[in-house]
Amino acid sequence: MTANLKCTLDNSVTGYETFKAGNFTFDRCEYFAYISCPTGEHMMPIDAFLTALMRDIAWGFFYGTVAFDDVFGTTNHYGNVDMFVGKYSEEYTRSGRDYLENFKSDELMEVFKAMQSNWTNEGFDPFAAPQETGSAWGRKNGNNDAAIDRARETAKRMVGIPGDAPLRTDENGYPVNRAFLDVDQEQPVVEAAPGFEGELHAFNLFGFLSRSDVTWNPSIVSVVRQSLFCPTTEEYILPIEHGNDRVEWFIQFSDEIVWDIKDGETSKPRAQVVMRPGDVSAMPGDIRHQGFSPKRSLLLVWENGSPEIMDMIKDGTVPMVPVEF
Ligand code: PHB
Ligand code: FE
Repeated sequence: MTANLKCTLDNSVTGYETFKAGNFTFDRCEYFAYISCPTGEHMMPIDAFLTALMRDIAWGFFYGTVAFDDVFGTTNHYGNVDMFVGKYSEEYTRSGRDYLENFKSDELMEVFKAMQSNWTNEGFDPFAAPQETGSAWGRKNGNNDAAIDRARETAKRMVGIPGDAPLRTDENGYPVNRAFLDVDQEQPVVEAAPGFEGELHAFNLFGFLSRSDVTWNPSIVSVVRQSLFCPTTEEYILPIEHGNDRVEWFIQFSDEIVWDIKDGETSKPRAQVVMRPGDVSAMPGDIRHQGFSPKRSLLLVWENGSPEIMDMIKDGTVPMVPVEF
């Protein structure tokens, strides 16, 4: 980090606002976001910053760490949250240039939401694939609150059960994506035995996913206690590196995703995983990962939603890896 990275264009020219949270200050210019904290400054391309910020907001700071890049991010402690610079980069910590501040989650969330709204221009959709959105660049030009406020589907039991999260259809604004025109849209027929009417449910998951208008944004389609099925459609690059605080499973339904796996503490490279249709992988609880999807693909992320699992992993009650071979 060097001092005085700050944008030479003034807010009165660009039209954007400056945001503060604790000892952090956030600025944007036509191309970059600038993050200042007591140990220095950091800059990121504004499209990368806004797509990462969008995920942190939409997922309520997610499980564990949401790293916007190698330097800046947040770590969720469920009620409070750390915001950091260089905390998981060995060079920063070794030279004492890392910085971390803790916030009440709802207070930091308020700043993040205001920043996302002010810095997102009309036509730029931070959830969309690069080929399906306008640009993030330039001076302030309207907003896209309609896109950034759209709710993530989170089923209480299962998508499509009356009263639960609805199925996606042409009529409710979810046409089939250009990449999935060949996906069968038939719904399964459920024939319940006498006495079980109204107790069985099924839906076409591939059809549901083929109609997703967002990328890298898992929806919760079924819930069994702490077992959450969170499928998603992916295209281009996961805008964050996720530092896990629990294990999670990936099942690749279609096409291909390459995962870069790094050490959760130091960010040193640990593995590269190539997932093709039918491949299953188990991510350990002490890594960070980022996915690359050359074509729009269908991925199932299987999460453990337990509010205790991260502490059990830390104190060794449950293992760091979900399976040993
Ligand atoms: C993950 O961090 O595991 C993750 C997040 C979003 C996705 C896929 C995977 O779309
Ligand atoms: Fe993850």
